[in-house]
Formats: sequence, structure tokens, C-alpha cells
Amino acid sequence: MAKKKTPGFECTACGHRALAWSGQCPGCSAWNTLEKALPAPTPSAGVGGGLSGGVAATPTPLREVQAERSERAETGIAELDRVLGGGLVPGSLVLLGGAPGIGKSTLAAMALANLSERGAGVLYVSGEESASQVRRRAERLGDAALDVPILAENSLESVIATIVEERPQVCVIDSVQTLSVGDSAPGSLAAVREVTQALLETGKSRDVTMILVGHVTKEGSLAGPRSLEHLVDCVLHFEGERERSFRTVRAVKNRFGATSEVGVFEMRSAGLVEVLDPSARFAGEASPAAGSVICCSMEGTRPILVEVQALVAPSEAELPRRTATGIDRNRLALVLAVLTRHGRLPLGSADVFVNVVGGVRLDEPGADLAVALAVASANSGEALQSEGRPLACFGEVGLTGELRYVAHADRRVAEARKFGLGSVIGPEPGEGKPKGMKIVGTIGEALKAAGVSRQSAGRGTQRSARRAA
Ligand code: TYD
Ligand code: MG
Repeated sequence: MAKKKTPGFECTACGHRALAWSGQCPGCSAWNTLEKALPAPTPSAGVGGGLSGGVAATPTPLREVQAERSERAETGIAELDRVLGGGLVPGSLVLLGGAPGIGKSTLAAMALANLSERGAGVLYVSGEESASQVRRRAERLGDAALDVPILAENSLESVIATIVEERPQVCVIDSVQTLSVGDSAPGSLAAVREVTQALLETGKSRDVTMILVGHVTKEGSLAGPRSLEHLVDCVLHFEGERERSFRTVRAVKNRFGATSEVGVFEMRSAGLVEVLDPSARFAGEASPAAGSVICCSMEGTRPILVEVQALVAPSEAELPRRTATGIDRNRLALVLAVLTRHGRLPLGSADVFVNVVGGVRLDEPGADLAVALAVASANSGEALQSEGRPLACFGEVGLTGELRYVAHADRRVAEARKFGLGSVIGPEPGEGKPKGMKIVGTIGEALKAAGVSRQSAGRGTQRSARRAA
């Protein structure tokens, strides 16, 4: 008798399969993420040979394929619609992920309220909160939110039966981790996958748009992330820090639109409010002090001005601290190394803190120069200005100290000019020099153009203090 194959274990974070359980995943080094795996599908006998009886089909030239132009359902939340690529595509499946308390339920409830106000059939399935809890949230969101029908239910079977019966156009499942199916524990990799698969089939066959809310772990991945992302049409990440009011929604996957768009929101007492002109908010509140620089960044098709702040302080520790909020730590390390080596800034024994104001994340390399100049300004203690306004810049910093081209120089500069900022420092724009731009080729030239000195503020006093001690 053939020995029965054990399905083994699978990491909920990276999908790595292991034969034996261990506390740490050998694939991604995450802790306690290995779970019993579903048996791998047995390949049907004779795949790659011996499979016969199929009828040959005729492939069609793409030119002759009818392109479906489905009407999108706008959620009425402009920032969300833009990230979706112009609204919800009928029958699509959207995964809305984010940390607990970030505002996923609020955003989903607001979208359903708007859709229902425009006459679309909607359904809010809550497996997490009771109907009365959902009602309390809706009360804060306004009258239309109270018209949304709710189903407080944990069983997938009864949720699907209700969807089939009610046939809503848009259905929110809050959250995918709270629905139970069969014997598997809700939230386990197997359950989350099965729930998603079943809702996908129901949605596609009945043209119901599904919005699945999913919690992300501390590390920032949805439980069973990789295994869900390929199933769904669109993955939205809701990000931001709970203590701060600004939140961003970005698409990390979108079959019906670009993935570079970002929507900016602010959490207020009456729900999430769209920040339609983030530049005005962020640049308007920029600090005139040393260590502050404005980054002309691009978020998808939209230029956004964001304030980057830095603090440089003599370190007491053997290993100086380098803390980055809103930018990648490795990117900060690179910029600091270039500043030390090619900008000849004495940062070796200093603690460096960098923060992107407003809880915004800058993911593009075009933010490097703003980080570099903010650190240089914090180091020298000189506030950077251009024509009496906060200094604005953009550009990628290369390892040899060169400033590298980034796209859309014209739109970045135009945005800065719109808000009355002076000359914008940046790398060679490729074609034509936008009005109001100062082109620099290296980090050294950028420091010079910004008018920042390489001396550390209070250096003399530190030295004399040490000597005295
Ligand atoms: P929620 O949408 O429940 O977050 P999630 O579903 O992602 O866990 O709400 C997030 C937080 O926002 C919650 O702590 C309460 C707060 N909040 C407001 O400040 N104003 C509001 O109008 C609402 C509905 C929530
Ligand atoms: Mg919630």
C-alpha cells in the first residue's frame, strides 16, 4: 500500500512549504506563521502525456476580441475612485487591507452609503462587529449610511446564500478573516483562502462586486497574503499611523487601473474626509526651522508636496541611531553614506532621525534629495529657504554622489510654483528646463545650491565640553 503523503506545513506570510513544523519559517524567517497546509492538488493522471480526448479550440487574434467596456460604479469618494482606476468594476473582487483601527470599516461603510444613495443595491456583511456596533458607526457617518442593509454573520454558507438571494451590486465582507467555513478555524490560511475563492465565484457568476476587508499583521502583510493576492482583481492597502490623522489608500495590484495612485484621507469625528489638495495641507504647514525641506514627490499621476524633517544630534551610543519614519530605512542609510562620503558631512557619530510629516510614506527614489538636504540642514542648524519660502527639491541620489534623473520634473516643479515656493533644486530633467528649477549634478552641487554649510552646529561647544570633562 502506498504511504499516504503528509501535506506538511505552509507559512501564512510567504507561502513557504515545510515538511515539519518549526517556530520560525525557513522561507521568510517570520515567527509562528507555519500552519497545517491543505493537501497539494494531485496532478491529474497523465498531465504532459497520455491526456487525450480534448477538442482543439481556435485562438482569436486580440484585435477581433470584443473588449468589454463595463460601466464602473463610482463610490462617490473621489480619492478612492481614483485609486480604483475610476470606480468599482462590476463583478470584481477588491481586497482592502490595513491595520486594525486604521478606518477600513469606515471607508467601506461610506462607500456603500454613497452607492446606496445613488440607487445601487448594497449589502454590508459584518463578521466582526455586531449590527448595533455597525449602526453606531453609521450614525456618525450621516443619514445615508443608515439605509445600508447589514448582515451580522460568521458562516460563509449563509453569507453566500444571502448574497444569492439579495443580489446586491456591491457587497462588503468585513472581514475575510472572521468568516468560518467547514472545520478550519476562521482566519487560518486555509479558511481565508477558501472564503475568498467562494466569494470570488459567487461574485463573478452573479456580477456582484465584492469588497473584502482584511486585517494585516504587524509586519504589514495580510494573513495569507500571497495566496490571496493572485486571486483578487485589486488589492488596496490602507496605511497611516493610528495616532495621526492622515491616511493613504494605495493600490498594490489593480487589474483595471494603475497601481501608482494614492488617495489621501484624514480621520475626523464624522468619518474619513478626503484630502483633495494634499500639497496645500502639507506644504502650508511646513516648518521654517532648520532640518525641514519640502519634497516634490509624485504619487501616481499626481504631484504632492510633502515636508521631510530631520534631526541630527551627537550620539551617546557606540552605534549611532538612525530612525526613519515614512521612508525606507535602507534608503536613509544610503543617503547618509553618500552625504558622509561625497558630501563630506561629519555624520559618523551622530544620531539621525528622519520623518515625513503627516504620516505620509514616500516610496519613490525621488525623495532622496529631500532627505539629504533635510539632514544637511539639521546638521548645520541652518534653515533652508529659497526666495524667502521653504526650500523644495527632488531627485534620486546615486552611490557615486551623482543626482539621478526622475520622471515628471515639469509637474513637480509646477506644483511647487503653484504653492509659491522658490526655485526647486533637482537633477537634469531630460528635456527642457522647467521654469523655476535649479539643476544640479551631484550631491555636492546640491548642498551648495541649497546654501547649506558642512559644519555641524554646536560642534565647537561639544568639543570643548568633552575636553572639559
Ligand atoms: P474603523 O473604521 O472601525 O477601523 P478598522 O475597520 O480599520 O479597524 O475605525 C477606525 C478608527 O476611527 C476608530 O478607532 C474610531 C475612529 N473613527 C473616527 O474618529 N471618526 C469616525 O467617524 C469613525 C466612524 C471612526
Ligand atoms: Mg473594522
